[in-house]
Amino acid sequence: MASTLDNVSRTREQPANGSRSTGEPLLSVEHVRLGYWTPAGFNLAVGDVSFEVQRRERIIVIGPSGCGKSTLLKAIAGFISPAGGEISVAGRTAPPPGPDRAVVFQEFDQLFAWRTVLDNVAYPLRVNRRRRADATASARQFLELTGLGHAADRYPHQLSGGMKQRVAIARALALEPAILLMDEPFGSLDALTRARLQGELNAILDRTHTTLLFVTHSIDEALVLGDRVVVLGNAPSTVQELVDVRDVGAPDSAAYADMRRRLRRLLANKGEEVDENAVFV
Ligand SMILES: Nc1ncnc2c1ncn2[C@@H]1O[C@H](COP(=O)(O)OP(=O)(O)OP(=O)(O)O)[C@@H](O)[C@H]1O
Ligand SMILES: [Mg+2]
Repeated sequence: MASTLDNVSRTREQPANGSRSTGEPLLSVEHVRLGYWTPAGFNLAVGDVSFEVQRRERIIVIGPSGCGKSTLLKAIAGFISPAGGEISVAGRTAPPPGPDRAVVFQEFDQLFAWRTVLDNVAYPLRVNRRRRADATASARQFLELTGLGHAADRYPHQLSGGMKQRVAIARALALEPAILLMDEPFGSLDALTRARLQGELNAILDRTHTTLLFVTHSIDEALVLGDRVVVLGNAPSTVQELVDVRDVGAPDSAAYADMRRRLRRLLANKGEEVDENAVFV
């Protein structure tokens, strides 16, 4: 079967583990518990999760539907407070939401419909006190970086799904966050666009040195983008395994196939429906 795997490369310019053994982690998640109050009581989604992320690392979170991946991301973004444990970013415990943690969601409708592409990217910069000319120049730069320079004056309804996601990525990157938080950002895209954006994201991260925390259901996406994979179990979730995948090599290598099988087995054990995106079969 024809494969588009050649389009997807792990383009990192150097291993992201340079600072791994030194200094304090950029993100520390320590025995974190997260849940929601419902009429029936407190519903615990994340039972006890701990891991650390070093600067420039690319961390993938996978696990069964409902295990609390999005909840965890929202807590790291500062939108939800843990019921227990501690989240620290750059040494600050429980920081409120801020531009140091930019979030990209799955939905295509996360853009301001009444603003142009350029304004969508520039607006958060102005909210964060950048001068108008400075914000506009920066927005243009990040639109170029995501291949959208030509669409700066369009409105969201004039864009394809892939283009809208690129705008959301440009908007997040323009904030120059310490951590880019992405919750299944490519989940609604067709397989080819998804593969292309994975390659582009890798190249952008190589250039910007941004740290990544990325939620996905796709094992191949995890292997193409990740340095390490946090595998969560069923809710109330704990970390089942923290797998280092930075040496798996190209998608046609034996090590890649072995790792793919290992992660599939781990997820299958958790009752996960593995996303068999056709492009990776
Ligand atoms: N706002 C909310 N109020 C109450 N319960 C919620 C809320 N958001 C999520 N939940 C519940 O918390 C649990 C974890 O949800 P979450 O969205 O974090 O899972 P997930 O791992 O991201 O799932 P998926 O893979 O399907 O996106 C689920 O049981 C969900 O129903
Ligand atoms: Mg989710």
